[in-house]
Amino acid sequence: MQTSTAAGPRPGLVVEGLVKDYPVATGLHRAVDGVSFQVTEGHFYSLLGPSGCGKTTTLRCVAGLERPDQGSISLGGTVVADGSQALPPERRDIGMVFQSYAIWPHMTVFENAAFPLRVGGAKVGRDELRRRVDEVLAIVGLSDYAGRSATQLSGGQQQRLALARALIRRPRVLLLDEPLSNLDARLRDRMRAEIRDLQRQVGITTLYVTHDQVEALSMSDRIAVMDGGRIVQEGDARSIYAHPATRFVAGFVGTANFLDVVAVGLAETGAMRLRLADGVVEADVPDGMAEGEAATLSVRPENVWLRPIAVEAAPPAGSVTGHVDEVVYMGDTVEVRVRLVEGVVSARMHPSAPPSQGDRVLVELRREDLSVIHERFGMRSAAGADGGPAAGAAAA
Ligand SMILES: Nc1ncnc2c1ncn2[C@@H]1O[C@H](COP(=O)(O)OP(=O)(O)OP(=O)(O)O)[C@@H](O)[C@H]1O
Ligand SMILES: [Mg+2]
Repeated sequence: MQTSTAAGPRPGLVVEGLVKDYPVATGLHRAVDGVSFQVTEGHFYSLLGPSGCGKTTTLRCVAGLERPDQGSISLGGTVVADGSQALPPERRDIGMVFQSYAIWPHMTVFENAAFPLRVGGAKVGRDELRRRVDEVLAIVGLSDYAGRSATQLSGGQQQRLALARALIRRPRVLLLDEPLSNLDARLRDRMRAEIRDLQRQVGITTLYVTHDQVEALSMSDRIAVMDGGRIVQEGDARSIYAHPATRFVAGFVGTANFLDVVAVGLAETGAMRLRLADGVVEADVPDGMAEGEAATLSVRPENVWLRPIAVEAAPPAGSVTGHVDEVVYMGDTVEVRVRLVEGVVSARMHPSAPPSQGDRVLVELRREDLSVIHERFGMRSAAGADGGPAAGAAAA
Protein backbone atom coordinates (compact mmCIF):
# COMPACT_ATOMS: atom_id res chain seq x y z
CA MET A 1 0.00 0.00 0.00
CA GLN A 2 1.13 3.50 -0.72
CA THR A 3 1.44 6.31 1.73
CA SER A 4 1.39 9.97 0.94
CA THR A 5 4.75 11.56 1.57
CA ALA A 6 4.13 15.17 0.64
CA ALA A 7 1.13 17.19 1.69
CA GLY A 8 -1.74 17.28 -0.76
CA PRO A 9 -3.15 14.77 -3.19
CA ARG A 10 -0.80 12.40 -4.92
CA PRO A 11 -0.78 12.00 -8.70
CA GLY A 12 -1.79 8.51 -9.78
CA LEU A 13 -1.03 9.26 -13.43
CA VAL A 14 1.11 11.99 -14.91
CA VAL A 15 1.34 12.59 -18.66
CA GLU A 16 3.75 15.28 -19.78
CA GLY A 17 4.29 16.69 -23.25
CA LEU A 18 2.99 13.57 -24.95
CA VAL A 19 3.47 13.49 -28.74
CA LYS A 20 2.51 10.62 -31.02
CA ASP A 21 3.00 10.60 -34.79
CA TYR A 22 1.62 7.94 -37.10
CA PRO A 23 3.17 7.31 -40.51
CA VAL A 24 0.66 8.02 -43.27
CA ALA A 25 0.99 8.18 -47.05
CA THR A 26 1.88 11.87 -46.98
CA GLY A 27 4.45 11.62 -44.19
CA LEU A 28 3.61 11.77 -40.50
CA HIS A 29 0.26 12.47 -38.92
CA ARG A 30 0.48 13.98 -35.44
CA ALA A 31 -2.34 12.24 -33.56
CA VAL A 32 -1.33 13.61 -30.15
CA ASP A 33 0.32 17.01 -30.06
CA GLY A 34 1.84 17.87 -26.70
CA VAL A 35 -0.71 16.58 -24.22
CA SER A 36 -0.09 17.09 -20.48
CA PHE A 37 -2.36 16.23 -17.56
CA GLN A 38 -2.33 14.70 -14.10
CA VAL A 39 -4.87 12.41 -12.53
CA THR A 40 -4.95 12.56 -8.75
CA GLU A 41 -4.84 9.15 -7.12
CA GLY A 42 -8.35 7.74 -6.78
CA HIS A 43 -9.87 10.30 -9.13
CA PHE A 44 -11.99 9.77 -12.22
CA TYR A 45 -10.54 11.75 -15.12
CA SER A 46 -12.04 11.98 -18.60
CA LEU A 47 -10.63 12.82 -21.99
CA LEU A 48 -13.56 14.28 -23.91
CA GLY A 49 -13.49 15.23 -27.57
CA PRO A 50 -14.79 14.57 -31.07
CA SER A 51 -13.82 11.62 -33.23
CA GLY A 52 -10.18 11.66 -34.28
CA CYS A 53 -8.99 14.17 -31.65
CA GLY A 54 -6.43 11.73 -30.18
CA LYS A 55 -8.23 10.27 -27.15
CA THR A 56 -7.60 6.60 -27.91
CA THR A 57 -4.03 7.27 -28.97
CA THR A 58 -3.37 9.01 -25.63
CA LEU A 59 -4.91 6.11 -23.75
CA ARG A 60 -2.92 3.57 -25.76
CA CYS A 61 0.29 5.40 -24.93
CA VAL A 62 -0.62 5.25 -21.22
CA ALA A 63 -1.38 1.53 -21.58
CA GLY A 64 1.89 0.84 -23.35
CA LEU A 65 0.22 -0.25 -26.58
CA GLU A 66 1.83 2.68 -28.40
CA ARG A 67 5.26 4.13 -27.88
CA PRO A 68 5.27 7.93 -27.51
CA ASP A 69 7.47 9.95 -29.84
CA GLN A 70 7.99 12.61 -27.18
CA GLY A 71 7.03 13.18 -23.57
CA SER A 72 6.79 11.04 -20.49
CA ILE A 73 4.20 9.00 -18.60
CA SER A 74 4.33 8.09 -14.91
CA LEU A 75 2.04 5.75 -13.02
CA GLY A 76 2.01 6.11 -9.24
CA GLY A 77 5.34 7.90 -9.27
CA THR A 78 7.08 5.37 -11.55
CA VAL A 79 8.10 6.50 -15.02
CA VAL A 80 6.74 3.95 -17.49
CA ALA A 81 7.64 5.78 -20.70
CA ASP A 82 9.96 8.60 -21.60
CA GLY A 83 12.46 9.46 -24.35
CA SER A 84 14.68 6.49 -23.56
CA GLN A 85 12.41 3.64 -22.47
CA ALA A 86 8.85 2.29 -22.52
CA LEU A 87 7.65 -0.52 -20.28
CA PRO A 88 5.44 -3.14 -21.95
CA PRO A 89 1.72 -3.13 -21.00
CA GLU A 90 2.00 -6.14 -18.68
CA ARG A 91 4.51 -4.30 -16.50
CA ARG A 92 2.39 -1.16 -16.10
CA ASP A 93 -0.10 -2.20 -13.45
CA ILE A 94 -3.16 -1.15 -15.44
CA GLY A 95 -6.55 -2.64 -16.24
CA MET A 96 -8.29 -1.77 -19.49
CA VAL A 97 -11.75 -1.92 -20.97
CA PHE A 98 -12.23 -1.16 -24.64
CA GLN A 99 -15.22 -0.10 -26.66
CA SER A 100 -15.52 -3.66 -27.98
CA TYR A 101 -15.06 -5.22 -24.59
CA ALA A 102 -14.10 -8.58 -26.04
CA ILE A 103 -15.07 -11.12 -23.45
CA TRP A 104 -14.41 -14.72 -24.43
CA PRO A 105 -17.59 -16.43 -25.61
CA HIS A 106 -16.30 -19.98 -25.06
CA MET A 107 -15.60 -19.35 -21.36
CA THR A 108 -17.87 -19.06 -18.36
CA VAL A 109 -18.25 -15.81 -16.49
CA PHE A 110 -15.95 -17.19 -13.78
CA GLU A 111 -13.25 -18.14 -16.28
CA ASN A 112 -13.48 -14.81 -18.07
CA ALA A 113 -12.90 -12.96 -14.81
CA ALA A 114 -10.14 -15.35 -13.74
CA PHE A 115 -8.30 -15.21 -17.05
CA PRO A 116 -5.89 -12.34 -16.29
CA LEU A 117 -4.78 -14.10 -13.10
CA ARG A 118 -4.19 -17.38 -14.94
CA VAL A 119 -2.08 -15.83 -17.69
CA GLY A 120 -0.54 -12.97 -15.79
CA GLY A 121 2.24 -14.98 -14.19
CA ALA A 122 0.92 -13.73 -10.87
CA LYS A 123 1.25 -17.21 -9.31
CA VAL A 124 -2.11 -17.24 -7.62
CA GLY A 125 -3.14 -20.46 -5.86
CA ARG A 126 -6.49 -22.17 -6.47
CA ASP A 127 -8.17 -20.91 -3.30
CA GLU A 128 -6.84 -17.43 -3.69
CA LEU A 129 -7.99 -17.38 -7.31
CA ARG A 130 -11.51 -18.44 -6.33
CA ARG A 131 -11.59 -15.83 -3.57
CA ARG A 132 -10.43 -13.06 -5.89
CA VAL A 133 -12.89 -14.00 -8.64
CA ASP A 134 -15.76 -14.18 -6.13
CA GLU A 135 -14.76 -10.81 -4.77
CA VAL A 136 -14.57 -9.07 -8.13
CA LEU A 137 -17.81 -10.66 -9.41
CA ALA A 138 -19.52 -9.42 -6.25
CA ILE A 139 -18.19 -5.92 -6.89
CA VAL A 140 -19.73 -5.85 -10.39
CA GLY A 141 -22.92 -7.62 -9.28
CA LEU A 142 -22.39 -10.88 -11.20
CA SER A 143 -21.99 -13.37 -8.33
CA ASP A 144 -25.07 -15.29 -9.38
CA TYR A 145 -23.80 -15.70 -12.93
CA ALA A 146 -20.37 -17.23 -12.30
CA GLY A 147 -21.21 -20.58 -13.91
CA ARG A 148 -22.97 -19.15 -16.92
CA SER A 149 -21.52 -18.99 -20.39
CA ALA A 150 -20.46 -15.43 -21.17
CA THR A 151 -22.67 -15.42 -24.26
CA GLN A 152 -25.74 -15.79 -22.04
CA LEU A 153 -25.24 -12.33 -20.54
CA SER A 154 -27.03 -9.14 -21.51
CA GLY A 155 -25.05 -6.25 -22.96
CA GLY A 156 -24.82 -4.52 -19.60
CA GLN A 157 -23.76 -7.71 -17.86
CA GLN A 158 -21.06 -8.30 -20.46
CA GLN A 159 -19.86 -4.79 -19.85
CA ARG A 160 -19.67 -5.48 -16.13
CA LEU A 161 -17.77 -8.67 -16.80
CA ALA A 162 -15.26 -6.71 -18.85
CA LEU A 163 -14.85 -4.42 -15.84
CA ALA A 164 -14.38 -7.39 -13.52
CA ARG A 165 -11.64 -8.69 -15.78
CA ALA A 166 -9.94 -5.31 -15.81
CA LEU A 167 -10.08 -5.08 -12.01
CA ILE A 168 -9.12 -8.58 -10.94
CA ARG A 169 -5.40 -7.94 -10.86
CA ARG A 170 -6.07 -4.93 -8.64
CA PRO A 171 -4.31 -2.55 -10.99
CA ARG A 172 -3.17 0.87 -9.94
CA VAL A 173 -4.92 2.55 -12.85
CA LEU A 174 -8.06 1.70 -14.80
CA LEU A 175 -8.26 2.76 -18.46
CA LEU A 176 -11.68 2.86 -20.13
CA ASP A 177 -12.08 3.64 -23.83
CA GLU A 178 -15.71 4.45 -24.71
CA PRO A 179 -16.86 1.44 -22.70
CA LEU A 180 -20.56 2.27 -23.03
CA SER A 181 -20.82 3.02 -26.72
CA ASN A 182 -22.13 -0.45 -27.63
CA LEU A 183 -25.06 -0.20 -25.23
CA ASP A 184 -28.50 1.22 -25.90
CA ALA A 185 -29.36 4.61 -24.42
CA ARG A 186 -31.25 3.37 -21.38
CA LEU A 187 -28.58 0.88 -20.38
CA ARG A 188 -25.88 3.47 -20.99
CA ASP A 189 -27.57 5.75 -18.44
CA ARG A 190 -27.62 2.99 -15.85
CA MET A 191 -24.07 1.81 -16.52
CA ARG A 192 -22.77 5.37 -16.17
CA ALA A 193 -23.93 5.43 -12.59
CA GLU A 194 -22.80 1.85 -11.97
CA ILE A 195 -19.27 2.43 -13.24
CA ARG A 196 -18.96 5.60 -11.22
CA ASP A 197 -20.19 3.89 -8.03
CA LEU A 198 -17.87 0.98 -8.61
CA GLN A 199 -14.90 3.27 -9.25
CA ARG A 200 -15.58 5.11 -6.00
CA GLN A 201 -16.03 1.88 -4.09
CA VAL A 202 -12.72 0.45 -5.34
CA GLY A 203 -11.05 3.88 -5.18
CA ILE A 204 -9.09 3.24 -8.33
CA THR A 205 -7.44 5.99 -10.37
CA THR A 206 -9.40 6.02 -13.64
CA LEU A 207 -8.77 7.49 -17.07
CA TYR A 208 -11.95 7.49 -19.14
CA VAL A 209 -12.20 8.28 -22.84
CA THR A 210 -15.46 9.44 -24.38
CA HIS A 211 -16.95 11.69 -27.05
CA ASP A 212 -20.17 11.91 -25.01
CA GLN A 213 -20.43 15.12 -23.02
CA VAL A 214 -23.11 13.77 -20.69
CA GLU A 215 -20.88 10.85 -19.72
CA ALA A 216 -17.92 13.10 -19.07
CA LEU A 217 -19.93 15.74 -17.18
CA SER A 218 -21.78 13.26 -14.99
CA MET A 219 -18.95 10.89 -14.11
CA SER A 220 -15.71 12.84 -13.85
CA ASP A 221 -13.79 14.55 -11.10
CA ARG A 222 -11.98 16.38 -13.86
CA ILE A 223 -12.28 16.62 -17.62
CA ALA A 224 -9.80 17.46 -20.35
CA VAL A 225 -11.50 18.59 -23.55
CA MET A 226 -9.42 17.61 -26.58
CA ASP A 227 -9.41 18.91 -30.12
CA GLY A 228 -6.90 18.22 -32.87
CA GLY A 229 -4.50 16.26 -30.66
CA ARG A 230 -4.38 18.88 -27.92
CA ILE A 231 -6.08 19.62 -24.64
CA VAL A 232 -8.00 22.84 -25.18
CA GLN A 233 -9.52 23.14 -21.69
CA GLU A 234 -9.21 21.31 -18.40
CA GLY A 235 -11.31 21.57 -15.27
CA ASP A 236 -14.18 20.08 -13.34
CA ALA A 237 -17.53 19.56 -15.05
CA ARG A 238 -19.07 22.72 -13.67
CA SER A 239 -16.28 25.05 -14.72
CA ILE A 240 -16.05 23.60 -18.23
CA TYR A 241 -19.78 23.80 -18.78
CA ALA A 242 -20.27 27.21 -17.17
CA HIS A 243 -17.08 28.83 -18.45
CA PRO A 244 -16.04 27.38 -21.79
CA ALA A 245 -12.74 28.86 -22.95
CA THR A 246 -13.37 28.69 -26.67
CA ARG A 247 -16.25 28.52 -29.09
CA PHE A 248 -15.30 24.94 -29.78
CA VAL A 249 -15.65 23.94 -26.11
CA ALA A 250 -18.89 25.90 -25.69
CA GLY A 251 -20.41 24.20 -28.71
CA PHE A 252 -19.06 20.72 -28.07
CA VAL A 253 -19.85 20.50 -24.36
CA GLY A 254 -23.56 21.31 -24.36
CA THR A 255 -25.22 23.82 -26.62
CA ALA A 256 -24.50 27.52 -26.63
CA ASN A 257 -25.68 30.77 -28.17
CA PHE A 258 -22.98 33.01 -29.58
CA LEU A 259 -23.41 36.77 -29.89
CA ASP A 260 -20.98 39.37 -31.20
CA VAL A 261 -20.17 42.08 -28.67
CA VAL A 262 -17.87 45.08 -28.31
CA ALA A 263 -16.43 46.18 -24.96
CA VAL A 264 -17.49 49.72 -24.09
CA GLY A 265 -15.86 50.25 -20.71
CA LEU A 266 -15.84 49.02 -17.14
CA ALA A 267 -19.00 49.21 -15.07
CA GLU A 268 -19.06 50.24 -11.39
CA THR A 269 -19.57 46.58 -10.54
CA GLY A 270 -16.12 45.76 -11.95
CA ALA A 271 -17.58 43.88 -14.89
CA MET A 272 -17.11 44.98 -18.49
CA ARG A 273 -20.01 46.63 -20.29
CA LEU A 274 -20.57 44.94 -23.62
CA ARG A 275 -22.58 46.43 -26.45
CA LEU A 276 -24.87 44.31 -28.58
CA ALA A 277 -26.91 45.66 -31.49
CA ASP A 278 -29.69 47.10 -29.29
CA GLY A 279 -28.54 46.95 -25.71
CA VAL A 280 -25.73 46.71 -23.20
CA VAL A 281 -24.99 43.82 -20.85
CA GLU A 282 -22.33 43.26 -18.22
CA ALA A 283 -19.96 40.33 -18.04
CA ASP A 284 -16.55 39.34 -16.74
CA VAL A 285 -14.00 39.37 -19.52
CA PRO A 286 -10.63 37.68 -19.99
CA ASP A 287 -7.61 39.44 -18.50
CA GLY A 288 -6.15 41.93 -20.91
CA MET A 289 -9.29 42.56 -22.89
CA ALA A 290 -9.83 46.30 -23.14
CA GLU A 291 -12.44 48.83 -24.19
CA GLY A 292 -13.09 48.88 -27.92
CA GLU A 293 -12.31 45.23 -28.47
CA ALA A 294 -14.67 42.77 -30.06
CA ALA A 295 -15.43 39.36 -28.56
CA THR A 296 -18.00 36.60 -28.55
CA LEU A 297 -20.56 36.24 -25.82
CA SER A 298 -21.54 32.66 -25.06
CA VAL A 299 -24.70 31.85 -23.12
CA ARG A 300 -26.46 28.53 -22.50
CA PRO A 301 -30.12 28.27 -23.61
CA GLU A 302 -31.25 27.50 -20.05
CA ASN A 303 -29.71 30.80 -18.93
CA VAL A 304 -31.56 33.00 -21.40
CA TRP A 305 -34.50 34.62 -19.58
CA LEU A 306 -37.42 35.93 -21.59
CA ARG A 307 -40.00 38.45 -20.39
CA PRO A 308 -42.90 40.17 -22.10
CA ILE A 309 -42.22 43.80 -23.07
CA ALA A 310 -44.38 46.54 -24.57
CA VAL A 311 -43.83 47.17 -28.25
CA GLU A 312 -42.22 50.61 -27.91
CA ALA A 313 -40.22 50.16 -24.68
CA ALA A 314 -36.41 50.28 -24.83
CA PRO A 315 -34.51 47.42 -23.18
CA PRO A 316 -33.21 48.12 -19.67
CA ALA A 317 -29.54 47.49 -18.86
CA GLY A 318 -28.60 43.83 -19.00
CA SER A 319 -31.10 43.04 -21.72
CA VAL A 320 -31.79 43.18 -25.40
CA THR A 321 -35.06 42.81 -27.22
CA GLY A 322 -36.20 40.43 -29.89
CA HIS A 323 -39.14 38.72 -31.55
CA VAL A 324 -40.14 35.13 -31.02
CA ASP A 325 -39.47 33.21 -34.24
CA GLU A 326 -40.33 29.71 -33.21
CA VAL A 327 -41.60 27.81 -30.17
CA VAL A 328 -40.79 24.09 -30.05
CA TYR A 329 -42.46 21.94 -27.44
CA MET A 330 -40.07 19.26 -26.16
CA GLY A 331 -42.11 17.72 -23.35
CA ASP A 332 -40.07 18.70 -20.30
CA THR A 333 -38.96 22.02 -21.79
CA VAL A 334 -39.82 24.48 -24.51
CA GLU A 335 -37.19 25.78 -26.92
CA VAL A 336 -37.85 29.36 -27.93
CA ARG A 337 -35.92 30.90 -30.82
CA VAL A 338 -35.72 34.65 -30.58
CA ARG A 339 -34.58 36.86 -33.43
CA LEU A 340 -32.60 39.82 -32.12
CA VAL A 341 -31.74 43.01 -33.98
CA GLU A 342 -28.53 41.16 -34.81
CA GLY A 343 -28.36 37.44 -34.38
CA VAL A 344 -30.59 34.76 -32.88
CA VAL A 345 -30.74 33.21 -29.40
CA SER A 346 -32.37 30.03 -28.24
CA ALA A 347 -33.92 29.95 -24.80
CA ARG A 348 -34.90 26.79 -22.97
CA MET A 349 -37.81 27.32 -20.63
CA HIS A 350 -40.24 25.50 -18.44
CA PRO A 351 -43.25 24.55 -20.61
CA SER A 352 -45.88 26.15 -18.35
CA ALA A 353 -46.26 29.58 -19.97
CA PRO A 354 -44.22 29.97 -23.13
CA PRO A 355 -44.44 33.11 -25.30
CA SER A 356 -46.12 32.90 -28.68
CA GLN A 357 -44.64 33.25 -32.11
CA GLY A 358 -44.35 36.92 -33.07
CA ASP A 359 -44.28 38.23 -29.47
CA ARG A 360 -41.83 40.96 -28.67
CA VAL A 361 -39.74 39.82 -25.71
CA LEU A 362 -37.08 41.13 -23.40
CA VAL A 363 -34.04 38.88 -23.39
CA GLU A 364 -32.24 39.09 -20.05
CA LEU A 365 -28.58 38.17 -20.06
CA ARG A 366 -27.18 37.96 -16.54
CA ARG A 367 -23.54 38.54 -15.73
CA GLU A 368 -23.12 35.24 -13.87
CA ASP A 369 -24.42 33.27 -16.83
CA LEU A 370 -22.23 34.78 -19.50
CA SER A 371 -18.88 33.64 -20.84
CA VAL A 372 -16.85 36.02 -22.91
CA ILE A 373 -14.63 34.33 -25.45
CA HIS A 374 -11.82 36.32 -26.95
CA GLU A 375 -9.68 34.38 -29.38
CA ARG A 376 -6.52 36.25 -28.40
CA PHE A 377 -6.86 36.18 -24.61
CA GLY A 378 -8.60 32.84 -24.24
CA MET A 379 -11.00 32.38 -21.41
CA ARG A 380 -12.40 34.82 -18.89
CA SER A 381 -10.55 34.67 -15.64
CA ALA A 382 -13.24 35.17 -13.03
CA ALA A 383 -14.92 32.37 -11.08
CA GLY A 384 -14.60 29.07 -12.82
CA ALA A 385 -11.04 29.21 -14.11
CA ASP A 386 -9.51 26.85 -11.63
CA GLY A 387 -5.93 26.83 -12.76
CA GLY A 388 -5.52 23.11 -13.44
CA PRO A 389 -2.35 21.77 -15.06
CA ALA A 390 -3.51 22.64 -18.55
CA ALA A 391 -5.39 25.81 -17.68
CA GLY A 392 -2.98 27.85 -19.75
CA ALA A 393 -3.52 25.71 -22.81
CA ALA A 394 -6.58 27.61 -23.91
CA ALA A 395 -4.79 30.91 -23.98
CA ALA A 396 -1.73 29.58 -25.78
N1 LIG B 1 -2.56 3.41 -36.59
C1 LIG B 1 -2.79 4.61 -37.10
N2 LIG B 1 -2.19 5.03 -38.22
C2 LIG B 1 -2.40 6.25 -38.73
N3 LIG B 1 -3.21 7.17 -38.18
C3 LIG B 1 -3.85 6.82 -37.06
C4 LIG B 1 -3.69 5.53 -36.46
N4 LIG B 1 -4.45 5.48 -35.33
C5 LIG B 1 -5.07 6.67 -35.27
N5 LIG B 1 -4.71 7.48 -36.28
C6 LIG B 1 -5.16 8.85 -36.52
O1 LIG B 1 -4.82 9.62 -35.38
C7 LIG B 1 -5.86 10.53 -35.05
C8 LIG B 1 -6.32 10.26 -33.63
O2 LIG B 1 -6.92 8.97 -33.57
P1 LIG B 1 -7.58 8.42 -32.24
O3 LIG B 1 -7.95 7.00 -32.50
O4 LIG B 1 -6.68 8.69 -31.11
O5 LIG B 1 -8.89 9.33 -32.13
P2 LIG B 1 -10.08 9.29 -31.08
O6 LIG B 1 -10.13 10.62 -30.43
O7 LIG B 1 -9.96 8.10 -30.21
O8 LIG B 1 -11.35 9.16 -32.03
P3 LIG B 1 -12.71 8.27 -31.88
O9 LIG B 1 -13.63 9.09 -31.01
O10 LIG B 1 -13.20 8.20 -33.28
O11 LIG B 1 -12.36 6.95 -31.30
C9 LIG B 1 -6.94 10.34 -36.09
O12 LIG B 1 -6.78 11.33 -37.07
C10 LIG B 1 -6.65 8.96 -36.64
O13 LIG B 1 -7.07 8.86 -37.99
MG1 LIG C 1 -11.11 6.35 -29.97
